[in-house]
Amino acid sequence: MKTPLFRTTLIAAAAAVLSTAAFAQNTGKLKVGLMLPYTGTFASLGNAIENGFKLYLTEQGGKLAGREVEFVKVDDESDPSKATDNVNKLVKRDNVDVLIGTVHSGVAMAMAKVAKESGTILIVPNAGADAVTGAMCAPNIFRSSFSNWQPGYAMGEVMAKKGIKKVATITWKYAAGDETVRGFKEAFEKGGGTVVKELNLPFPNVEFQALLTDIAATKPDAVFTFFAGGGAVKFVKDYAAAGLKKTIPLYGSGFLTDGTLDAQGADADGLFTALHYADSMEVPKDKTFRLAYAKAYKLQPDVYAVQGYDAAQILGIGLKAVNGDVSKKAEFAKAVEAAKIESPRGTFSLSKAHNPVQDIYLRQVTGKENKLVGVASKALTDPARGCKM
Ligand code: BEZ
Repeated sequence: MKTPLFRTTLIAAAAAVLSTAAFAQNTGKLKVGLMLPYTGTFASLGNAIENGFKLYLTEQGGKLAGREVEFVKVDDESDPSKATDNVNKLVKRDNVDVLIGTVHSGVAMAMAKVAKESGTILIVPNAGADAVTGAMCAPNIFRSSFSNWQPGYAMGEVMAKKGIKKVATITWKYAAGDETVRGFKEAFEKGGGTVVKELNLPFPNVEFQALLTDIAATKPDAVFTFFAGGGAVKFVKDYAAAGLKKTIPLYGSGFLTDGTLDAQGADADGLFTALHYADSMEVPKDKTFRLAYAKAYKLQPDVYAVQGYDAAQILGIGLKAVNGDVSKKAEFAKAVEAAKIESPRGTFSLSKAHNPVQDIYLRQVTGKENKLVGVASKALTDPARGCKM
C-alpha cells in the first residue's frame, strides 16, 4: 500500500522529468531535414537553396529562436520514385523537427503527403507543384517560392498584351511543366491568344531536336517554355543552334535563364522571362543580401538562393513565436500567416493556403543579368484550387 506522501513524491518526480524533457525539446538542437537534389540536372539549384538557407542562419548567429541547428541532409536526386522512402527516413528514422525541401514538383508532392500525415512542419523552398498549396494544403505546410501557375500566368498576360496570337509551348512532361503551361494558357487565351501546339518530353531528357523541327514546321508567332537547371542551359543553346532564335521569339518562366547565364552565354541574350526575382532590383534588402551572399560563397545569388534564404526566414518567424517549440503548430502557423517577409525579392506575405502573394517581374537577359524590365503581375495570388483550410 503506497502512502499519500509516496504518491505525491512520485508525481512531482514524473512532472520534473517531463518538464526537463519539454525544456530539452525546446532548447536542444533543432534537427532540420534538408531534402534537396545534390546530383542531376537540378544539383546547382539544391546547392543554392542550401547556401541561402545557411546564410540567413549565419546572420542569426547560427541559432533560430535560441536553438542551434543541426542538419540531416538527403540527396533526393529529383527522383519521385525514391521520394517517399527518402522523406520517411528523415521523419521516422532521424526524427527531424522540420523538413525543408525540395526542388522537383513530383518529389515535393511526396514530401507534402508525409508532412500532412505526420504533422511535421514542411517549408518548400522551390518546387512549384500547385497541389502543395492547393488540394494538399495543410496548416503545417508552407512555401517560400511560388506555385507553378504564377510565372506561367504572368507571362500569358504579358504575351497576350503584346498582341502575340499563336504560341507553341514546349516543356518537360511532369507537374512543373504541365502546370506552368496551364497557367500560361489560362491567361494567354483569356487575353485573346491561342496555344496552337503543346510539345513535351519526359523529365529530365534533353533530346530536343525532333521537337525543334516540329516548332520550325509549325511556325508559331512565339514559343513559351518551362525548363530549369542543366536542361534549361541545353534548351536555350539548342534553340539558338537550330536557327530558331532569329525567327521565332522564345519566352519562358524565369527558370529558363536563372542561375544559367554563365553557361548559356550569348544564346540567352535578349530573352524575356517572368519570375518573382530579377537582377538589379532597387530593393535595399536585395543589395545587402547579394553582397553577403557573394562574400560568403564567391558566387552571385539566383532565385533559388533567395528562396532558401526566405525558407529560413519563415522558419525563424514561426519558431520565434513558439519559443522554439515546434509542437505548437497552430501558433507557429498564426505567426507565419501574419508576417510580412522582408525578402530580397521585395516584401511578401503568405496566402491563406501558405503560398507567397508576390509581384511577378518581367525580365530581359542583358549580358550576364536577368535585368528587371517591370512588374508583369502585381501581388499575384495563386488560386489555391482545391485547398480546404
Ligand atoms: C519544379 O519541379 O517545381 C521546378 C523545378 C525547377 C525549377 C522550378 C520548378
